Amino acid sequence: MRTRTQVGIVGAGPAGLLLSHLLALRGIESVLIEIRSREYCEARQRAGVLEDGSVRLLREAGLADRLDRQGIEHGGIYLQFAGERRHVDFRALTGRTVTVYAQTEVVKDIIARRVADAGPGAIQFSVTETAVSGLDSDRPVLRYTSEDGVRHEVTCDAIAGCDGFHGICRPAIPAQLLTTVEREYPYAWLGILADVPPSTDELIYAHHRRGFALHSLRGPTVSRLYLQVDPDEDIADWPDDRIWAELGERFALPGWELKPGPVLDKGITPMRSFVSGPMRYGRLFLAGDAAHIVPPAGAKGLNLALADVARLAPALDGLVRGQPEQAEAYSDACLDRVWRSTHFSWWMTTMLHRTPGADEMEARLQLSQLHYVTTSRAAATSLAENYTGLPLPS
Ligand code: FAD
Ligand code: PHB
Repeated sequence: MRTRTQVGIVGAGPAGLLLSHLLALRGIESVLIEIRSREYCEARQRAGVLEDGSVRLLREAGLADRLDRQGIEHGGIYLQFAGERRHVDFRALTGRTVTVYAQTEVVKDIIARRVADAGPGAIQFSVTETAVSGLDSDRPVLRYTSEDGVRHEVTCDAIAGCDGFHGICRPAIPAQLLTTVEREYPYAWLGILADVPPSTDELIYAHHRRGFALHSLRGPTVSRLYLQVDPDEDIADWPDDRIWAELGERFALPGWELKPGPVLDKGITPMRSFVSGPMRYGRLFLAGDAAHIVPPAGAKGLNLALADVARLAPALDGLVRGQPEQAEAYSDACLDRVWRSTHFSWWMTTMLHRTPGADEMEARLQLSQLHYVTTSRAAATSLAENYTGLPLPS
C-alpha cells in the first residue's frame, strides 16, 4: 500500500514517541513504526531519573498528569565511599532537582496520549521488514510490513531515526560520512527490580572495593538496585540471595539496613560511550540512542533522547514549511549537549567503578575525587549542575 506523510518516524522508544506527539501539537502528520509489541515497549526496564528540563518539557507538552502525581522529586543524591555516606544537595547548590519516574511510565503515558489523540493506528507496533531509502532526495521513503501482513511504502518529507543503538537508520548513512567515537567499559550492571520499599529517601551511588552499587527506586513500594559485575557474567549465576548479599556488603553502613524483597525482574546491561555524527544525512535525522549511548551512571540516556527531539520537532516543522535553518543547525546543536553528557557520564562512571586489575593508585584517586566533590562547593556544584541537566532550548 502506498501512502504519504510529512514525517516518518522509526522506533517507538521515548524519542520517537515524544517526537510524534510534539509534531502533532504543531499540526504535522507523522507515521510511527515499531518492531516490538506495545506490551514489550511498556514493560522494558530502563532508566529512572528525569532532569529538571525533561520534566518541564513533558509538562509543557501536556504529558505530565501522572508524572506530576506519581513522580518523586529528589533534591540530591548520596555518594558513599570509604565507609561514609555523604549528601550532595542539588537544590541548595543549583536551585534545581530531578524527578524519579521510570522510563516505562513515560513510554506508557505518551503511547496512551497518542492513541487517545490519533486512534489505535497512531503507532504501528510489531512491524517487520523495515527499510528507509531515498534519504538524500526531497522524498525519502519508509517501508515496512504491518502486523496484518500488508506491505507499506510511505513517501515522507523527512525521516526521523529514533530506532535505538541497534536500529536500521544510522547504518543507512554512508559510512564514510559518519564519525564514530566509542569506548567499551570493562564492566556491566546487573539490575534488579524488587517488590520492597526503598531503604533510602534519595539515590545512593556507592564506591566499594568489591565494585560499584546503586540504590534507586520506582515508587514508595518498589526498589531498583544495580551491582557492577563483569561484562561476561551469566545472570544464571546470580540467584536472588547472592544479589542481596552482595548489595548488602557494598551498601553496608553502621546503623543502616538494606531491606531485601522479592525480585520482580533482573538483567545485565553492558556499558559503553558512543557518539556518532553528524546526526543528519539529507532528509534523515537521528535522535536518541540511534546516535549516541552513555553509560548509565550519570542518568543521562533518556534525558538526552528527550533533549534531541525537543530540538528536532521545531527543526522538522521549519523544514516541511520551507524554512530549513534549524534543520541545518540540528546536528551541531545536539552534539554540544551530547558531548557534555558523554563527559559527565564517563566521569561519574570512572570515579565510581572498580576497573578489573586496577592498582591501588586508581582506588586512591577515586577516593580523593569523591572526597573533593563532597567537600568543595565548587566541585559539588559542577556535579549538581550536570546531574540536574543543562537548560533545554525553549
Ligand atoms: P530506545 O528506547 O532504544 O527506543 C528505540 C526503539 O526503536 C525501540 O523500541 C526499538 O524496538 C525500536 N526499533 C529498533 N529497530 C527498529 C526498526 N528497524 N524499526 C522500527 N523500530 C525499531 N539510561 C539511563 O539513564 N539509566 C538506565 O538505567 C538505563 N538502563 C538501560 C538499560 C538498557 C538495557 C538499555 C538498552 C538502555 C538503558 N538506558 C538507561 C538508556 C536509556 O534507556 C536510553 O537512552 C533510552 O531508551 C533512549 O531512548 P530512544 O528512544 O532513543 O531509544
Ligand atoms: C534507575 O533508576 O534505573 C537509574 C537511576 C540513576 C542512574 C541509572 C539508573 O544513574
